[in-house]
Amino acid sequence: MAHIERVADVATRWAERLSLPVPERDRWLRAVWLHDALRDASPDHLRRLVPDQPGPVALLHGPAAAVRAGLAGESDPGVLAAIQHHSTGCAEWDAVGRMLYCADFLEPGRSFDREERAAMLERFPKDPEGVLREVAIRRMTRLIRQGWPLNEAGRRFWNTVAWTSQ
Ligand SMILES: [Fe+2]
Ligand SMILES: [Fe+2]
Repeated sequence: MAHIERVADVATRWAERLSLPVPERDRWLRAVWLHDALRDASPDHLRRLVPDQPGPVALLHGPAAAVRAGLAGESDPGVLAAIQHHSTGCAEWDAVGRMLYCADFLEPGRSFDREERAAMLERFPKDPEGVLREVAIRRMTRLIRQGWPLNEAGRRFWNTVAWTSQ
């Protein structure tokens, strides 16, 4: 999927700018490559993987992909949390989850707000918390506009981001 390749390009560029150690860069890229593995899966397939997950089917591909990644041997809790919550946010994320949430939204293939998103993409390595907050405002606004409820993880995520920026 071209989207995943573009997110991987963004993550690689940020990792280089930050001079990340190779093992940490590899964690980032594992989360990137796995996060949308089930984006095109059928609702039935998704619900079989996460039978207890409430909410709209469009928000199931992250939790389902995390289950599948775990079954395939991924055991890093930060990588799994990044995949699981990439659509909705998570207060307990480490750097992998925060990076993926931002790179997923800022990758240059999306057609809206191109200049504004390109500027945030450039700024991320210098100001990851500021960019995370800006991305969270935009992503959560979109979720709310879809009429979707905020789940507990998403609500706590927003409160954490909003609080730390004040
Ligand atoms: Fe996704
Ligand atoms: Fe994605």
